[in-house]
Amino acid sequence: MQKVTLKKAVFPVAGLGTRFLPATKASPKEMLPVVDKPLIQYAVEEAYSAGIRHMIFVTGRNKRAIEDHFDTAYELESELEKAEKHALLSVLRSVQPDDMHCAFVRQPRSLGLGHAVLCAEHLIGNEPFAVLLADDLMMGPVGGLSVLAQMAAQFEQVQQSIVAVQEVPAAHTRRYGIVAVDAATDAYPALMKVQKIVEKPAPDVAPSRMGVAGRYILTPAIFEHIRNQSSGVGGEIQLTDGIAGLMRQENVYAFQYQGKRYDCGSKEGFLEATVELALQHPEIGDHFRAYLKSIKLD
Ligand code: UTP
Repeated sequence: MQKVTLKKAVFPVAGLGTRFLPATKASPKEMLPVVDKPLIQYAVEEAYSAGIRHMIFVTGRNKRAIEDHFDTAYELESELEKAEKHALLSVLRSVQPDDMHCAFVRQPRSLGLGHAVLCAEHLIGNEPFAVLLADDLMMGPVGGLSVLAQMAAQFEQVQQSIVAVQEVPAAHTRRYGIVAVDAATDAYPALMKVQKIVEKPAPDVAPSRMGVAGRYILTPAIFEHIRNQSSGVGGEIQLTDGIAGLMRQENVYAFQYQGKRYDCGSKEGFLEATVELALQHPEIGDHFRAYLKSIKLD
């Protein structure tokens, strides 16, 4: 079998971001900064670190700022050049490395994550691709591979769809796609074959406590299954249901990643990410640590 390498990533960013209103009334949730970088840039950097160079954004109304962020800012660049602010200039230019290509496609209505992925079909064609949900901010282990790079390494071996999973508290199963899996085998010791996947089940009917995090590697066969499914939980075209269909045709694997996930679609997760990443930040980390220590918490 000829091995296929992952080249493209889809970033569905057309959601309404209602949990962050009013901040998301006119600006995209994915542009909310954690310390000094917008959520979407963390996700794009993660895909880039996995060797992906074609970034496809599924956008919607009020998402123009995302396109601008990944475009050249000529005026700003020439001002910084004039002022000889070279360090800032390279920060600015690093947002879009020369070998990275961005494409944008619109999802006319927020009909669900599965529908958003389907909107990118004509840009993907007949090859495997990654899906990254930018509101799940994923940090790989210190000095180790990013979460998507870990998954891409698994994909190199297995050449089939892989979803990132983590154990979630029983009370939180309604927030995730939940999988039931077979034990890993000697052939693929880090992968567990998915037996069942259910979107947002109640704790008493959830098949396990293994929740899907916002990173997927999918084969193009997924598109047919999404296209043929009716709306699921919340009246949305769910990616989870598409994956359930795909499992009838091909193996789908769950991968328990190394690292940490911050649910930046929720206020609590966003604040946790902000505090933890600020503490690690080379410029402000020490000052911020001292500041936190000085606060009296009762
Ligand atoms: P979420 O359900 O977490 O995001 O979707 P949301 O709908 O924007 O946020 P809330 O729940 O109203 O606060 C997960 C990801 O899927 C994208 C979102 O942009 C987010 O990155 N998405 C969701 C789409 O692109 N299109 C959709 O129709 C739905």
